[in-house]
Amino acid sequence: MASVKENLLRAVELTESDSPRLDLEVLLCHVLGKTRAWLYTWPEHELDDQSQQVLDRLIQRRIAGEPVAHLTGFREFWSLPLKVNRSTLIPRPDTEVLVETVLELCPQEALQVLDLGTGTGAIALALASERPLWQILAVDKMPAAVALAEENRSALGLANVRVLQSDWFASVPAQRFAVIVSNPPYIDARDPHLREGDVRFEPHSALVAEEQGLSDIRLIARRAPEFLEPGGLLAVEHGWQQAEAVRRIFSEAGYRDVESRLDYAGNERLTLARNP
Ligand SMILES: C[S@@+](CC[C@H](N)C(=O)[O-])C[C@H]1O[C@@H](n2cnc3c(N)ncnc32)[C@H](O)[C@@H]1O
Repeated sequence: MASVKENLLRAVELTESDSPRLDLEVLLCHVLGKTRAWLYTWPEHELDDQSQQVLDRLIQRRIAGEPVAHLTGFREFWSLPLKVNRSTLIPRPDTEVLVETVLELCPQEALQVLDLGTGTGAIALALASERPLWQILAVDKMPAAVALAEENRSALGLANVRVLQSDWFASVPAQRFAVIVSNPPYIDARDPHLREGDVRFEPHSALVAEEQGLSDIRLIARRAPEFLEPGGLLAVEHGWQQAEAVRRIFSEAGYRDVESRLDYAGNERLTLARNP
């Protein structure tokens, strides 16, 4: 039998992880159903055989590269516990900048908002949790992602979000939104990073776009004016080297007030524009 403390020493086995100790803590919390504070309060607690076996299997899968979020089935985004699976992207902390920016720029009063490519529902649910008066339509093309977003919506009890399957705008009802947000796929299919880390376990449908990763952003920019109110906000996340190209796409599509914002690492990862 091994204790919590002895199991934490096994972080050295997770040689390919950037955060081996944290990964192991999260896996231990998951197996034991405890908090990280509990692990530090009870380092001598001995795992029973069944818990140890479950943990051993999870460690083996982590060594093989599987993301911790897939092993636990959850990832926190904007302090909301979101269920995750292989149907879509694991929400990233950088996307919280998109949420923060939309909250900063928009009034609290009743608004119609569209989240394109909602995945787990991360952006839509974060906005809904902060702005109960907003009505948010969250769409995704992948049926399994739609089911996941709906499961998260329901678990969080956020009645001001509606989840719908749609290929971008194809099934969005003809109406005007004050805000359209999106974190679309934007990685070039030849990008070597697709063969590294967590993204190896995430679907290409959530990651990859044609035209050097810009085809979905182009389509969204082209169609969004039909669905935005005059002066409505378009806010799109993109790759750290794409800001200039995205600003050009938005300007050429006729938007005004085009500007990029930085993520937490200081990279231009978000571009905003107003429908004229
Ligand atoms: C980068 S992920 C973002 C997921 C989530 N919004 C987030 O920020 O964590 C992109 C999402 O776009 C969805 N998607 C890809 N192509 C789409 C399309 N043609 N129409 C609607 N959604 C699409 C994918 O299924 C995926 O869930």
